[in-house]
Amino acid sequence: MTFRKSYLVLALVGGLALSLGAARADTSQSSAPEMQPQVARQSWSFAGPFGKFDPEQLQRGFKVYHDVCSACHSLNLVSFRDLADPTGPAFSEAQVKALAATYKIEDGPNDSGQMFQRPGRPSDHFPWTFPNPEAAKAALGAVPPDMSDLAKARTYPRPFPLFIFDAFTQYQEQGPDYIVALLNGFTRPDDPHWNLYFPGHKIAMPKPLTDGQVKYTDGSPETLAQYSRDVAAFLYWAAEPKLDERKEMGLRVIAFLLVFAALLYFTKRRIWEGVRH
Ligand code: HEC
Repeated sequence: MTFRKSYLVLALVGGLALSLGAARADTSQSSAPEMQPQVARQSWSFAGPFGKFDPEQLQRGFKVYHDVCSACHSLNLVSFRDLADPTGPAFSEAQVKALAATYKIEDGPNDSGQMFQRPGRPSDHFPWTFPNPEAAKAALGAVPPDMSDLAKARTYPRPFPLFIFDAFTQYQEQGPDYIVALLNGFTRPDDPHWNLYFPGHKIAMPKPLTDGQVKYTDGSPETLAQYSRDVAAFLYWAAEPKLDERKEMGLRVIAFLLVFAALLYFTKRRIWEGVRH
């Protein structure tokens, strides 16, 4: 073995030992009581290259948002008519119209310069219950983040070597996993602001969901476990409404590239056929 080669082997072994040490340290930390435990992975209909949203789940998730979360959280970037998206919640046009009309939207100014309230239209965006973030903070102690991209804006650390596998498996659903964990993480009945998964454990949001709180019409279980998964799926759709299209386009591009590669290969063979090499 040359000097240079043994040097390389040494470096490799050293690196491996170091990273294993780091992994060990990481797991021992996460089992300590004050650290956040690992967030459990959920199985999502929309995960993986062939994943698609389940419209029934999104409709239930919307109901949870509508009945509970919308009391505090805005959904600025989503309009009522987005809910009719056939690859999303797939509500009918009539349902969207009826829903929009239940909201009061500020419009104006009218001819005399006054702002006025009118019933919502499908093209309006979801209004926020608070007039401004300061009002929300004064009432709740912290500003509830807008939910339009919340499911993509949150994640959780994964210890070595899991984050390396994640890069290869292209797992992208950490956001909704975290939301499910957070909603199930209010584990101290005496303190509604203590959360197992929130960094630092003290969260301004009091436990928002409990069993039986939201009525479902499709016979799905009315439990916290079900609500949290449904609302997390809905929020993922809100953050990434074009997911189905994006995945379909990706598959088409891969198929095209495969055919193209085969054509190039045979063309190359044909061109060099008679040439001695
Ligand atoms: C009573 C008002 C209220 C309700 C209802 C409410 N939230 Fe919150 N939420 C808040 C506040 C305030 C914060 C900011 C917490 C902080 O920064 O300490 C927050 C933060 C969050 C966060 C971000 C946590 C983080 O890691 O930063 C998520 C996710 C969330 N809420 C989800 C939900 C969901 C889902 C619902 C409906 C089931 C809901 N919330 C209902 C007030 C509320």
